[in-house]
Amino acid sequence: MNNNTQESKIQLEYINKCTELVKEKYEKAPAFFIQNAGCQMNSLQTDTVAGIVKRMGYTEVSREEDADVVIYNTCTVRENANLKIYGHLGHLKSIKKKNPELKIILFGCMMQEPEVIEKIHKEYSFVDLVFGTHNFHKFPELFYRSLNTEGQIIDVWKESDEIVEGMPSDRKYSFKTGVNIMFGCNNFCSYCIVQYVRGREKSREPEAIIEEIKGLVADGVTEVMLLGQNVNSYGKDFGDKDAFAKLLRRVDIIPGVERIHYMTSHPRDMSEEVIKAVAECEHICENFHLPFQAGSSEILRRMNRGYTKEKYLELVKMVRKYVPDATITTDIIVGFPGETEEDFEETLDVVRQVGFTSAYTFIYSKRSGTPAAKMESQVPLAVKKERLNRLMALQNENSLKCHEKLVGQTVEVLAEGPSKQKTVWNGRTRTGVLVLWPIEDKQYAVGQKVNVQIEAAQTWLVKGKAVD
Ligand code: 5AD
Ligand code: SF4
Repeated sequence: MNNNTQESKIQLEYINKCTELVKEKYEKAPAFFIQNAGCQMNSLQTDTVAGIVKRMGYTEVSREEDADVVIYNTCTVRENANLKIYGHLGHLKSIKKKNPELKIILFGCMMQEPEVIEKIHKEYSFVDLVFGTHNFHKFPELFYRSLNTEGQIIDVWKESDEIVEGMPSDRKYSFKTGVNIMFGCNNFCSYCIVQYVRGREKSREPEAIIEEIKGLVADGVTEVMLLGQNVNSYGKDFGDKDAFAKLLRRVDIIPGVERIHYMTSHPRDMSEEVIKAVAECEHICENFHLPFQAGSSEILRRMNRGYTKEKYLELVKMVRKYVPDATITTDIIVGFPGETEEDFEETLDVVRQVGFTSAYTFIYSKRSGTPAAKMESQVPLAVKKERLNRLMALQNENSLKCHEKLVGQTVEVLAEGPSKQKTVWNGRTRTGVLVLWPIEDKQYAVGQKVNVQIEAAQTWLVKGKAVD
């Protein structure tokens, strides 16, 4: 891995060059529109791009029609995400007809797919700039080139070992943010396209992560989410299998850090050391996001997940032993190729046994190039939909039950802001549950700690009143 300060310098210079160019080109500040798709890691890169273009002199607008630059950060984990982007591009074509000066920029995971690039090159020639996940750090330079070019620029790399630090970022919340600890994934789950578009695992140096968090704290951040495709294998590339547990303990003692989350864990790699760190460290939040994907051990084997149903349930037991009050959340896929009704019942069984506080549930989506796409007996869409509905109905009951347990308790919430109608405040508990409470006369600062007594529970949230 190459933590390249020289490259950071070059890119910061390009930001300055763009700022000059923008000043020359526009009389008043030009506008940008940015949209994010996909996971928390994408969202973090979207914030970085927004921070960079703001530094260049652009202001953000909420409609593509009002923008001089439209930027989409794309996801490709499911086919729907790709279809949405093509839909947006159709719309942008008509906007660009009216405003030929409009710059259209696409980046992110979907751009790592060769078929996508071919299609954009042939059918969407009005797109100005395309880059991928491996040369994300080159954005200022590419943007500069695009400002000076009429035609389409496509620059997508197959891989890179470069990690560039110190770019500006436009955080959505002043008090919380994600922090990348690693990039890529070495897992080869048979349904997943991510390893092909994000490449092999690369961990950041612990010192760089700690320094970044200290800087964020100095800037008002109290809550951090450590991000990676598989955080439990953090540091294995530099030969330390307990590196993640050690990192958690180091982040825990950074003065000013109040809440630490991490995402995503792989049940196969989740270690007792990490669970102990969560149990023992004051600031690590008591939520375990443990995607189990499917309940049938046979499906799990064909998914190449590296654990069985029994192993997963043992892991849940271990979590409960060390951190009895922890919430457990998960990701589930229905309709993996060959999934029978009996297999699906095993998934429902895990959901019943564990009692997840919440679950992200997905219909299996065939991704070209993955082993599962070539498997026989793909499940018909109608069957997948029917299974998803049954799964969601069961999970909704679970979510409500978990939330009902909070009624009568006083929980610590960090205020995130008032609702649109300004009638309630919303915020989250340490375990990530959404809490609403009436605004009344009291003003809170975003990020402020508020004690809320919970009075009512719903499937997606709880409601209460502030008690301090
Ligand atoms: N189809 C459906 N869901 C998928 N996921 C990943 N790949 C696919 C796919 N091909 C889900 C998994 C993962 C989450 C981020 O997306 O549940 O945990
Ligand atoms: Fe989408 Fe996965 Fe890429 Fe995140 S890592 S943006 S979820 S494809």
